[in-house]
This record gives sequence, C-alpha cells and structure tokens, in this order.
Amino acid sequence: QVRPPPTLYLVNVLVLGAGVIGAAIADELARRGASVTVLDMRSPGRGASQASAGILAPYAEAHDRTPLLELGTRSLALFDEFVEGLRDRSGRVVDYARSGTLEVALDDVDESRLRVARAWLDAAGVRAEWLDPQALRSFEPSVAPSARGGLFNPAHGWVGVASLVAALVQSARLAGAVFESPVEAAEVAPQKTGAVVRAGDRRYTADSVILAAGSWSGRIKIAGARPLPIRPVRGQLLHLRWPNAEPPARVVWGPGCYAVPWPDGSLLVGATVEDAGFHEDVTADGLRELTSAVGDLLPGARRASLIAARVGLRPAAPDGLPVIGPLRDAPSVIVATGHYRNGVLLAPLTAKIIAALLLDGTIDQAFAMITPNRFERADP
Ligand code: GLY
Repeated sequence: QVRPPPTLYLVNVLVLGAGVIGAAIADELARRGASVTVLDMRSPGRGASQASAGILAPYAEAHDRTPLLELGTRSLALFDEFVEGLRDRSGRVVDYARSGTLEVALDDVDESRLRVARAWLDAAGVRAEWLDPQALRSFEPSVAPSARGGLFNPAHGWVGVASLVAALVQSARLAGAVFESPVEAAEVAPQKTGAVVRAGDRRYTADSVILAAGSWSGRIKIAGARPLPIRPVRGQLLHLRWPNAEPPARVVWGPGCYAVPWPDGSLLVGATVEDAGFHEDVTADGLRELTSAVGDLLPGARRASLIAARVGLRPAAPDGLPVIGPLRDAPSVIVATGHYRNGVLLAPLTAKIIAALLLDGTIDQAFAMITPNRFERADP
C-alpha cells in the first residue's frame, strides 16, 4: 500500500503545547510580529491548566529566598498589566483578584513555621500580617475556631485559569496565531537552521520550535538529544458548592490543602501531590485526603456539596525549577516547561523571557538556573 505523502507546513515559530504557558508565549510572540502556530494533542488549556486553582502566591510556595521565589515575585509583578491587557485585547472576562492569601496554623508546628516565615518576610521588607486566634476569627470567620493564628499576605491573589487561557488564545488569534488540535507532535528534528516537527502525517518546518507540552514535554523525541527529565506530579482538586453560610473571603491555605473562593459562591480545594505516572484519574484516596483536610481548615466545608473533581499533571524537573531556554546542541529548539506548581503564576514571565530571547536576542538574568542545559552538568 502506498502511503500518501506528509502534508508540509512552513512556519516561523511552532509552539508545542497550548496550555497556559504555550498560549501565553504564542500571544506574546504573535503580538510582537512573529508568525506563530500552536499544536496540542487536546484543545487549548486541557492539560494541567484545566485543573489549576490559579493561586498566585510566591511567598506561600517558598518561605525563603530561593530561585523559585525570585521568579515568582518577578512574574507576580507583571500580573496586573498581563490581565488588563488580555481583557482589553480579547474582550473577554478574566476572573482575577489580588485579595491576598491567609495561611492558617492548626497546631504548634504550623504556628512556629509560619512565625519563622513572617520574621523572614519582615526582614525582606514584605508586608504580611500575623493574626492571633481572636483577630483571625473576626478576619476570616470560616476558619476552624481552634486555629492557632494566620499569616495574611495581601500581595497574593488568584486568577480563573479557564478564563485566562481562553483570553490568551483569543488575543493570540487576533494577532494572527493559529491553534491546531488535536495534533500530537511526536518528534523534533533540529536542522542546520530551524527544525522539522513530525506530528502524525504532518511535517512542520519552523525557524524555532518552543517545547511547552507540560508533563508530556519529555515524551516528545528530540533527534540527537536526550529526552527532557520532566515527570508528571498528579494534583487532584475538588470543586465544592459552599453551604448556607459566609464562604471565605480570600484564598485560605492550610497544612493539608488550600481553598479558593469563587465569585459564584463555590470553592476550589486543592491539591494532592502524587507520583502516579501519566494516570489522570480522580481517586477515592485523593477525595478523602482533600475532604478531610478542608473540613479541618474550614469546618463549613463538611456540609458542602461536590460539584466536580478535577485532576491535572504538574510538569516537574528534578530540581523543581522551571526549564526555560534553548538546547545547547539545537538552539532552534527552545524549552518552556517544568513549571511544576507555578505554571499559572510564571506564565507572563515565561512568555517575556522567550520573546526577549527569540525577538531581541536577550538572555534573561535567571538563565543559569532555568536553562535546560543545567541537567547535562549533573552527569559524572
Ligand atoms: N499551585 C499549587 C499546586 O500545584 O497545587
């Protein structure tokens, strides 16, 4: 049997992955004049992005001066403008609030950990308020009355990730980007200049290929290079209908879960952290873990009804940091993955880093800690 010849496409920038990272990159590049095509094996935002609670909380993800905190605070500083611009360009509603996060201590161990964090934040000049049990009860009455105190960080917030991705895709499309799905990229073959991507019976020739396929980034073969060391870390979440009582007014973060109140009165509760391969399943254990943790933190949640359960696979590198930058031996292949627990938070910064690299030839100040080539150095 004679096979039909592959369909050939010539593009300037080919982005593999239409999650929040791929869509943010496509939008930034297209608006700056690049011709961009985005491929995804699902429709946009259907990987880790569709499960995300959208918390923007670098000081809660890292209670110390770490490279992750540096990236997270840089990206958080871009968020107001990022969302405003998207709302204007796309004409869409993007749910977003900088209403802060409240980290709650339920026992002695939590309390001393949060007090140390507070002291560190003070020394770093970051405004965060320690609430003793009485102050905590009037500030956030939904929290368990036995709580030992809470750390309120007003700089933090949350974004509705589905609305964010939809606006990114719309804005990128209006700037000329093309989204194609379901199209699964299987192999990238770097050439002297540019690269050829094989996806089913299609062949794309691109000047640059951006590998932004989240947990699946390591499964895309790159000819002549080792697969990226990205592993999936499963997160399950619950979407609850809050019962007849005042829901929390802001993101509440406890020892075993966090909860994001939505404007419609529902509550998103996350998330498990599991090594489960590529199995995107909701499990009885996962539901039990989250219902028990949220019941301890916000007793009203015990009477909540379940709207839905969500699951996503976070892409994690061995050191937990994002993996962003060109491959040493194939500079037309640029990686943008490994965002682990912070893909939504780091989306605007990642898009700016990639656009600066591709369109201005500028290397970001964080290059040494995020380059994909750092894993080669770990070799004996
Ligand atoms: N951003 C929190 C999580 O991944 O669960």
